[in-house]
Amino acid sequence: MMSDIKKGLAGVIADETAISKVNPETNSLLYRGYPVQELAATQSFEAVAYLLWHGELPDEHQLAELRATERRHRALAPEVKAVIDLQPASAHPMDELRTAVSVLGAIDTAGTDNVLEAVGTAEENLERSIRLFAALPALVAYGQRRRRGLDPVAPRDDLDYAANFLWMTFGEDPDEVVVDAFNRSMILYAEHSFNASTFTARVITSTLSDLYSAVVGAMGALKGPLHGGANEAVLHILDEIGTAAAVGPWLDAALAEKRKIMGFGHRVYKRGDSRVPTMKAALDTLVAHYDRPDVAELYETLEREFVERKGIYPNLDYPSGPAYNLIGFDTVTFTPLFVAARITGWTAHIIEQQGSNALIRPLSAYSGPDERHVDGYVPDEAAAEAAERPEESAG
Ligand code: COA
Repeated sequence: MMSDIKKGLAGVIADETAISKVNPETNSLLYRGYPVQELAATQSFEAVAYLLWHGELPDEHQLAELRATERRHRALAPEVKAVIDLQPASAHPMDELRTAVSVLGAIDTAGTDNVLEAVGTAEENLERSIRLFAALPALVAYGQRRRRGLDPVAPRDDLDYAANFLWMTFGEDPDEVVVDAFNRSMILYAEHSFNASTFTARVITSTLSDLYSAVVGAMGALKGPLHGGANEAVLHILDEIGTAAAVGPWLDAALAEKRKIMGFGHRVYKRGDSRVPTMKAALDTLVAHYDRPDVAELYETLEREFVERKGIYPNLDYPSGPAYNLIGFDTVTFTPLFVAARITGWTAHIIEQQGSNALIRPLSAYSGPDERHVDGYVPDEAAAEAAERPEESAG
């Protein structure tokens, strides 16, 4: 019945998860029980990745082991570099990255002679998850460098994940303030329950497809501006407005045209996104570090005026867009950065789905024409008879 339709699956609880809890009432987000703000203030992204995969924060030894594995798989594989180089330099980096991850998957699962074997065990999938987590920074960094006509920068073993990511992108020793803000952003982007890309990964996994196929599908879902693409779209809006003084007239025109203001609104949070205050604090440290008060002024003016007029609050993409811009990432690189963070959440969900699988296959209400027939079609007698005996023709 039409009244049963939950358009966009809004409000539908599709399954349970032990990975994260979003509570819009209390404006909180917990990863395996820990408030994300506490994790961002105290942990490295590697430790949070471990938490998402294993359910507990690592002890010193476990963290050292994860870091050692991550370092072993950091380098840009030549086969993957070659595939990136085959794509036009003007390709959107999400397309470039999606293709690169697909190739990594093909290399990794080569030799499995049936699809069930490619699915792998939970242990194998955890290893694949760590390898992808380790490989993504080099892919994202090289993507940005290639567009600027620069060669890749080799990883550095003396640097942890966040610092090495910045090193491979910019080829300069990163400043501690910048590493800290970047590390926090990665933690905040790591996981968010059944968002569109994670749900896509779970749908693909539910068919007993492999982890890489699920991740590639999730990347396709993340690319859209209603989801991950919003951090990129935020920068376009801020660029378009230009200065704080221009916010009022710009907003009048945008609202008159019924434009969606990117970086505001959320399907789940209606009174503010729990991750925004932490990311805004990280943005403030960058504003001070780079001495760009104009960025904070534009940010705060647009937020104030939009909230006043519409009562719709910023989401994580709103502070992260200008933060990534100040660090020096190209605007088109923002969603790939989201991928590098969310790979942890996606893969934790893929492993959880595999552990308690049910094929995800909802129903639809048909709204097309009633049954009708092609002009001149004459059914053959045997088929017509079979159609009258539905128990025999069911397939
Ligand atoms: N700018 C302007 N109006 C907005 C808005 C925004 N960013 N977000 C929501 N609204 C308005 C809608 O136009 C709608 O108004 P209406 O009832 O008059 O038609 C109302 O608020 C409800 O919005 P809706 O899009 O139906 O809510 P949703 O739960 O389906 O959408 C988002 C949530 C995230 C898709 C939506 O807020 C949005 O498009 N935001 C901008 C993109 C973005 O930042 N995405 C990142 C999400 S983390």
